[in-house]
Amino acid sequence: MDAVYPMGRENILMVPGPTNVPERVLKAMVRPLISHRGPEFRELYGRLLENLKKVFQTGGDVYPLTASGTGGVECALGNLVSPGEPVITVHFGLFGERMREAVVRLGGRPVEVASEWGEAPSLEQVKEALDLNPEARLITIVYNETSTGVAWRMLPELGRLARSRDKILVVDAVSALAGEPLPVDQWNIDVCVAGSQKCLACPPGLSLISVNERAYQALRENKHRLFYFDLEAHRRFAERKETPFTPAVPLFYALDEALQLLFEEGLENRIKRHAACAQAFYEAFDRVGLETISKGSLRSNTLIAVWNPPRVDGDEMRRMAKEGFGVVIGGGAGKLKGKSFRIGSMGMVSLREVSLTLRAVFESLKKLNFSFKEKPERVLEEVEGKLEEALRKLPKLRLS
Ligand SMILES: Cc1ncc(COP(=O)(O)O)c(C=O)c1O
Repeated sequence: MDAVYPMGRENILMVPGPTNVPERVLKAMVRPLISHRGPEFRELYGRLLENLKKVFQTGGDVYPLTASGTGGVECALGNLVSPGEPVITVHFGLFGERMREAVVRLGGRPVEVASEWGEAPSLEQVKEALDLNPEARLITIVYNETSTGVAWRMLPELGRLARSRDKILVVDAVSALAGEPLPVDQWNIDVCVAGSQKCLACPPGLSLISVNERAYQALRENKHRLFYFDLEAHRRFAERKETPFTPAVPLFYALDEALQLLFEEGLENRIKRHAACAQAFYEAFDRVGLETISKGSLRSNTLIAVWNPPRVDGDEMRRMAKEGFGVVIGGGAGKLKGKSFRIGSMGMVSLREVSLTLRAVFESLKKLNFSFKEKPERVLEEVEGKLEEALRKLPKLRLS
């Protein structure tokens, strides 16, 4: 298990976004610019609007916003939250807490439904909050909590609950779209936000937001909605296949190509690939005695968060993985900084990325005297074998 640089001298990114962007997507960005008020742009934007609906599985609208994921979340809340109104904020990690904070900044009054980080609140807790706060119109939640690797698997039930009580459900799916199942309409999600730089394997800088008729109706009643992120203006301009303001055109080119690649693979296959790669990480870590933060059915398909082993400096392990193996792994987020590390298994991850990452982690941990429960070489070989078998059933992709 020698040190290797898998892509020449370039590192592979196994952080929770941005992820490795395929060459054909990178190349798409270097095309000459076009006017965003001209026919070439209208053709591009029209195609993006249609294709994004397929990825979100919605008959509503989906807009690519020139903003990172946080901008998309701010857009959702800034259209819907009025000063003084109570908002049910379900949170169990850093990004859920950020949604709550955004509600506060907009003058809303968060009604918190929370759990310890690494766990997840129950549906009963949400029901109770709704019973106690019947005047609340909005529920916010992060589907896949990137700080802890918890995927909230009760989203379909939450959607049914929200609809039965006539609430608007706002979901941050920044690190979930195309890596976890997410049929937006079927699950009664009114507004859903994703990011370009995660499972879509596109560069960072775009946020994608879906809006249905119920959400439009609610936001039209909000006199305080934001100016740059006004979703009603996005709808008006989209009628003529334009954006209200100057969009990041090169990123739109990249998104167009990234979606093309996604359709070549198939949305379901992409989710299966993410699940298979995550499963390989979980099995490997369980067997060698590394403890993941999320457990059981809460384990995310896209983000594997691991406690630093006792007496092992996780940040040193990450430095060694990068310098010795060219594998960049994320550190702990928020209050888990210095206590955990995070592997973003997103985008174009496959056998090569998983193997190199496991190798880099295990070799670095050996040097740091971690005591392995099972021999890492054997674990690696078996896990690789299983992953190879699972991936064999999935399509081969053209990346350049
Ligand atoms: C769940 C979740 N929400 C929001 C964000 C924020 O996205 P950005 O950093 O693109 O603003 C992230 C980024 O990691 C995320 O994982």
